[in-house]
Amino acid sequence: MDNFLATSLPIIQSPMAGVQNSTLTIAVSSAGGLGSLPCALLSIEELQIELNVLAQNNNRPFNANFFCHQPPKINPEREAKWRLELKPFFTELGMDIGNIPTEPNHQPFNHQMADVLEVYKPPVISFHFGLPSADLVKRVKSWGSTIISSATTVAEAQWLEANGADAIIAQGLEAGGHRGMFLSEDLTTQIGTFSLLPQIIKKVRIPVIAAGGISDAVSVSAAISLGASAVQVGTAYLLCTETDTSQIHRAAIKSDASHHTAITNLFSGRPARSIVNRVMTEIGPINQNTPEFPLALTAIRALKKQTEIAGIGDFSSLWCGQNATGCREISASEMTRSLATKL
Ligand SMILES: Cc1cc2nc3c(=O)[nH]c(=O)nc-3n(C[C@H](O)[C@H](O)[C@H](O)COP(=O)(O)O)c2cc1C
Repeated sequence: MDNFLATSLPIIQSPMAGVQNSTLTIAVSSAGGLGSLPCALLSIEELQIELNVLAQNNNRPFNANFFCHQPPKINPEREAKWRLELKPFFTELGMDIGNIPTEPNHQPFNHQMADVLEVYKPPVISFHFGLPSADLVKRVKSWGSTIISSATTVAEAQWLEANGADAIIAQGLEAGGHRGMFLSEDLTTQIGTFSLLPQIIKKVRIPVIAAGGISDAVSVSAAISLGASAVQVGTAYLLCTETDTSQIHRAAIKSDASHHTAITNLFSGRPARSIVNRVMTEIGPINQNTPEFPLALTAIRALKKQTEIAGIGDFSSLWCGQNATGCREISASEMTRSLATKL
């Protein structure tokens, strides 16, 4: 136990909502890394179940991850424009877009979730899209949990430090999944990991974790050499045996399609990196009409469900970072150990 995360290895497995549960978390933590549990899509009951599984099967540090976006307001005009964009696809598939309800989902971190967490007191709690309100930050800290959150710019890192984060994840532009950006919507502010990392290290006093494009022992060692206190790795774990990555997603990662990823807002309303597929090519990757996060995902999810039955990923969010070279179909324990071999 020799670092600020109280783990033997400075390796955090990225929380990856939609493709993993506590099985991956346990595998990584038991190998000496920090396994993460993505909680953004869990109901209160599911959160309790997963934390219970961890309490019974894991005695090592782990991280519970939440989103902390502002809850969206439904904007009927924007919703109508978005549905008009998607209508040709619904027609092609013989589906009625009028049958899809507009409903909020993905609750941001709140006191109800904190009530459940308080029982288990995860050693680390990470947030995406900033931090929750000051009273929630205070509450989480009162149990002794370490708080970490993603910054995609120097300004975000300074904001996080000033508002209670204990460490910062410098999320470079290469990263798979959602951009953690929360102070600006301007994508031109987003820069690569090895440019962002030293700039953030210069401006904050708390530990900085490098994330984005780190996929093997050499890149882990490079990030640590650049001053990172730890790394957060997501994409490299996507093919590991303990993940729930779908067959469609796996096939895309294993194919040359993974050489072409892009930042898209089509799947949720917020920018995220996915392997480029049909819907991203035809109406994106960035579309001005997407409803506010996470409202955009409801209608497109119906197309995804319908086409995935036939093994087609045209409407699937194929989250993947720019560097999938480290993806291997091995156990997550082996992956974790192999990432650390040059430290
Ligand atoms: C499939 C996938 C899902 C993700 N889901 C989340 C999430 O639920 N919460 C979060 O904080 N970050 C999420 N991320 C982003 C990661 O925290 C991290 O920034 C990223 O994995 C690092 O870059 P890499 O994928 O190149 O290793 C996700 C990334 C991927 C690839």
